[in-house]
Amino acid sequence: MKAVVITELGGPEVLQLKEVEDPTVGDDEVLIKVAAAGLNRADAYQREGGHPPPKGCSPYPGLEVSGTIVSLGRNVSPCSPWNIGDQVCTLLGGGGYAEKVAVPAAQLLPVPESVSLRDAACIPEVACTVWSTVFMTSHLSPGESFLIHGGSSGIGTFAIQISKYLGIKVFVTAGSEDKLQACKNLGADVCINYKKEDFAARIKEETEGKGVDVILDNMGGSYLQRNLDSLSIDGRLFILGFQGGTTAELNLSPLLAKRLTIQAAGMRARSPENKAKIVKEVEKNVWPAIVARKVKPIVYKTFPLAEAAEAHRLLETSSHVGKLLLIP
Ligand SMILES: NC(=O)c1ccc[n+]([C@@H]2O[C@H](COP(=O)([O-])OP(=O)(O)OC[C@H]3O[C@@H](n4cnc5c(N)ncnc54)[C@H](OP(=O)(O)O)[C@@H]3O)[C@@H](O)[C@H]2O)c1
Repeated sequence: MKAVVITELGGPEVLQLKEVEDPTVGDDEVLIKVAAAGLNRADAYQREGGHPPPKGCSPYPGLEVSGTIVSLGRNVSPCSPWNIGDQVCTLLGGGGYAEKVAVPAAQLLPVPESVSLRDAACIPEVACTVWSTVFMTSHLSPGESFLIHGGSSGIGTFAIQISKYLGIKVFVTAGSEDKLQACKNLGADVCINYKKEDFAARIKEETEGKGVDVILDNMGGSYLQRNLDSLSIDGRLFILGFQGGTTAELNLSPLLAKRLTIQAAGMRARSPENKAKIVKEVEKNVWPAIVARKVKPIVYKTFPLAEAAEAHRLLETSSHVGKLLLIP
């Protein structure tokens, strides 16, 4: 088959389409003929050497795909929920930038009837990440308030939609008026241009000094203090990225005074059992919103698999809203 290979660590130009061996299919896995692969910021980190695939995972980049099942591992009987010919989308430990990929059957999700096979590739990574972090872990609930940093990102565009579906008041940050408008169109209530104003001051003003219940943060160190200052009593901060660095000097007093919780987690290194549990929760809680067309995949641009380098260049300019896809 053909796959995008990281020929050496470096810039987008190191991504090259090559002829490689077909994946071997484990006993509990299925083989998927890929229809589309979603891009994630983590793919660029892997290309640079900062986010290696977990042991046993494909060395090729790509954390999510949609496609059609073409064979079943020995333990995946045709009586299981899955059979040859089924259209699915799935989280991966790697290997999505390819014509075929093998994945544990327990990580599969059906393509929702409201979504095309291609566009379904946008959903698994953002849905599983957002649901497992702010909902399963931080217990973000209807009636609460929620600040999403990077509201126009792949993660952000999904987080806005699922939160509005669940009756949550949504605040977002983004770096341009166009991106803020896109967030507003998806339902965000309060849109803050972090390049023009201090988000912490605006949150204080908008919430009459109370702060928000939950924050989903992609920045890490550079936003840590201001995030704590922006949380309400019993507030929860979930950190899922370090675009603003991994270190910070911190005044701990808001933690004690407001009984705050700080949490962080990555999706890729979780065990297959843990991923399967998250996938089940996502199917139960998120799929109905997608089927009802209240949550839609936001596709910014598609590229042929051979143009993965071009797709990474666009990802790194950060001029997109939503998701980029590669099509084999
Ligand atoms: N922990 C996990 O399991 C997990 C899983 C998936 C993703 N992630 C992380 O989640 C983040 C989003 O991922 P993605 O794939 O959706 O990325 P993406 O689409 O490339 O988005 C990155 C976002 O960062 C925003 N940003 C940059 N500087 C900012 C700042 N100072 N303040 C607020 N936002 C800023 C950009 O917005 P502007 O262009 O408006 O600046 C852009 O929307 C990344 O950090 C990624 O590593 C973590």
